[in-house]
Amino acid sequence: MSKLVKIFFSPSNTTKKVVDIVSDNFDFDDETCDLLNFNSAKEISQGDIAVVGMPVFAGRIPKTARQRLEKIKGNNTPAIAIVNYGNAHVSDALVELIDVLKENDFNVVAAASTVSHHSIFDGVAIGRPDASDVKKINEFAQKCLEKIESKEELASEIPGNRPYVDYKTLPFLVECDETLCAFCYDCVSACPEKAIPDDDPIDTDLDLCSRCTACISICPEDARSFAGDAFEAKKPEFENANSERKEPEFYL
Ligand SMILES: Cc1cc2nc3c(=O)[nH]c(=O)nc-3n(C[C@H](O)[C@H](O)[C@H](O)COP(=O)(O)O)c2cc1C
Ligand code: SF4
Ligand code: SF4
Repeated sequence: MSKLVKIFFSPSNTTKKVVDIVSDNFDFDDETCDLLNFNSAKEISQGDIAVVGMPVFAGRIPKTARQRLEKIKGNNTPAIAIVNYGNAHVSDALVELIDVLKENDFNVVAAASTVSHHSIFDGVAIGRPDASDVKKINEFAQKCLEKIESKEELASEIPGNRPYVDYKTLPFLVECDETLCAFCYDCVSACPEKAIPDDDPIDTDLDLCSRCTACISICPEDARSFAGDAFEAKKPEFENANSERKEPEFYL
């Protein structure tokens, strides 16, 4: 019996949401590899199908997510590759995701770039994916089903360049408000970079931190946030420059 394997890295949960929408169109049992905490070698069984979602971080797929994805071998599994971005730019992320999947013996049959609420600049793409996005993503998933059944290859050209843009860590501070923290340690377990010390959730090692947003998203007390002069200066400028709605793109 074929299984659907969902593979994603989703610090603020919107990439997971898009992967779930696509996957719900497949009437298969499913299995989840959440790369925020899944960091093991794995081989996908022959006959399974993979839906792989990554957020765009500065025009790339996140470095840690890439390293974890590289440990999963495809076994010629048909794969749907999705990058999810915050209404600014995709740059080379979709080309990169497809390259990694092909190198790992996945058979990429379809791809998409979807738009979601920006996880750093929260005034951008509020409420997305919205009903219009969901409708388009469902239509795409139905076409993916047909493609997998007919064993067609990915034919569309994918926008993006090789070599990919260089990795860039954003210069913003990630802070914790000690007066709000309830010392539940959820952020410590969520952090994929081990940047929050086990014994001190108030602290963040900014040399290790990728600014991924997982700790901010998971904190039940809203104690963690972006901060600092660079962030405060960039926020209005970025939100103004990226206010125009972009649409998801699908490649078959
Ligand atoms: C470190 C970082 C870098 C980002 N870089 C980009 C970018 O280059 N282009 C863009 O449109 N959105 C960018 N975003 C926004 C995310 O791609 C977007 O919000 C995405 O939906 C986050 O997925 P998640 O909810 O699964 O974490 C960035 C977000 C973070 C945290
Ligand atoms: S400390 Fe940095 S790397 Fe760790 S979860 Fe928070 S934003 Fe992500
Ligand atoms: S998740 Fe929030 S409340 Fe819990 S330890 Fe971290 S900062 Fe404190």
